[in-house]
Amino acid sequence: MTGIYMSGTGNTEHCIKKLMGIIAPHDEAIPIESEDAADKIAVHDTVILAYPTQFSNMPYMVRDFIRNCHLLWAGKKVFCMTTMGAFSGDGAGCSARLLKKYGAIIIGGAQIKMPDSVCDSKLLKKSLEDNMRIVKEADEKIENIGRGIVREGKYPQEGLSFVSHLAGLFGQRLWFYGKTAGYSDKLKIGSSCTGCGICSRSCPMGNITVTAGKAEAGDRCAMCYRCISRCPQKAVTLLGKEVVEQCRFERYC
Ligand SMILES: Cc1cc2nc3c(=O)[nH]c(=O)nc-3n(C[C@H](O)[C@H](O)[C@H](O)COP(=O)(O)O)c2cc1C
Repeated sequence: MTGIYMSGTGNTEHCIKKLMGIIAPHDEAIPIESEDAADKIAVHDTVILAYPTQFSNMPYMVRDFIRNCHLLWAGKKVFCMTTMGAFSGDGAGCSARLLKKYGAIIIGGAQIKMPDSVCDSKLLKKSLEDNMRIVKEADEKIENIGRGIVREGKYPQEGLSFVSHLAGLFGQRLWFYGKTAGYSDKLKIGSSCTGCGICSRSCPMGNITVTAGKAEAGDRCAMCYRCISRCPQKAVTLLGKEVVEQCRFERYC
């Protein structure tokens, strides 16, 4: 088994690693941006694919990855896992449907509620205590999923049904589809930037360069919020105008 994940603020990384620690403790989960992510799929027959829900959809970076690896999916058993701040409808189903087109066998889906990662919006922001409780509940859910898989070979089927498809579509995706239809060119870097380069080194897309002591964003932002959550100056924003809270999984443990 192998695990491939996209994670901006660490929620999804935590969830996939926790699950794999239970069901496949000797196998590893690696970031989607790793050079050998495609090679891992080629040599394993079972893959856990995990990513954060974005506007009740899978991030474009994940769609792009699935498409780029289209020759590798035939006959692979894939478990689709998504994390979300509140609601994803069929967040797991979005990748499952595309993977099926390329011949993958979908063995299950899981949708795990985690703290919200949109650092520059007040919407969905919770107290530290509430976020710690959310992580605890997520951990318990993952432990249950893991036990079901190990003891009975039973994978959950969250987000894969027709009803979930309708919920995701009408709940959000139809109205916000444009936001995830490609990479974003909306990343903004404010005047407080000191050119330290943390954002550039963190970006999974290589979308940020530092020139003459100032970071500059290109048009291939995956909206993961990693740079925004790490900038010491809180100089980076995307959907909102100012950083409300830098969201990092480590803060909730
Ligand atoms: C651009 C963007 C859009 C999001 N859209 C949703 C959404 O539609 N529904 C939801 O429940 N959470 C949404 N979230 C929250 C994340 O899915 C959630 O916090 C996730 O656990 C972040 O995982 P990560 O830390 O691995 O990146 C969104 C986050 C971002 C950055």
